[in-house]
Amino acid sequence: MYQQIVILTGAGISAESGINTFRDQDGLWEEHKIEDVATPEGYARNPVMVEAFYNARIAQLHDGKVTPNKGHHALVKLEQEFNGELLIVTQNIDDLHERAGSRRLLHMHGELFKSRCPQSQQTFMLQDTFGPEHTCTCCIPAQRLRPHVVWFGEIPIGLDRIQDALDSCDLFIAIGTSGTVYPAAGFVDTANYHGAQTIEVNLAEADRHSKFQYHVQGKASQRLPDLVNHILQGRKVSDLSCAVTDNLIGKGDI
Ligand code: OAD
Repeated sequence: MYQQIVILTGAGISAESGINTFRDQDGLWEEHKIEDVATPEGYARNPVMVEAFYNARIAQLHDGKVTPNKGHHALVKLEQEFNGELLIVTQNIDDLHERAGSRRLLHMHGELFKSRCPQSQQTFMLQDTFGPEHTCTCCIPAQRLRPHVVWFGEIPIGLDRIQDALDSCDLFIAIGTSGTVYPAAGFVDTANYHGAQTIEVNLAEADRHSKFQYHVQGKASQRLPDLVNHILQGRKVSDLSCAVTDNLIGKGDI
């Protein structure tokens, strides 16, 4: 039985809820330039365009069609029934984990439904959408509130807490993330270094140079319920026939 689990989620877990990933076909970064909408410099150049980008994401989440999927729900079941420590670290700024019921959750890249004062760094719940009329109540003169989103070149949220959890976890699971953005992409190295078992759940095949010990290929919504049941039965992921060893990629099933 594991004692401490750290789970990293990425855009892939929300894909089946209807939210586009960043780097897959039709991904957000095909339509938008990172330097325009996801950097402090882009925001300084054109806050209206950046706000419009995030307002469109907010509108999509308000659309009744976007709801948590079985992948999100499986993680809630794990959180509720697992007896040890558990932390879900998400790179996603949507609120689908919370809507599903996850509580032990850290948004390392920020949250779409929060705004932040650029001067005091105080966060505010976003009532509606971003715009010049949204100003802080903490400064004189009031500052225009910015999205509470970590942009490229900024430091992710909660790194000390994540580091502590990774240092002592015995299972690290990464779900639906391409592993291209650091520091999240390096979490698997830390977990491996500390002797944890590391497993990835991804629609794509295991990378030839994968740093994960185990790889489960498929949609998060389809693979996570079985993986969660496996863990809750007190079994190890090393019982699964999905090891990635010596660049020989095993494509096992749960
Ligand atoms: P990416 O778009 O880079 O990667 C999405 C991953 O999800 C890919 O590896 C897909 O194969 C996988 N995937 C797609 N659909 C899936 C499904 N149904 N089930 C399982 N896996 C699936 O998204 P992230 O890795 O989350 O940061 O991107 C990391 C960061 O890059 C984001 O947080 C964002 C972005 O730039 C910032 O904006 C700071």
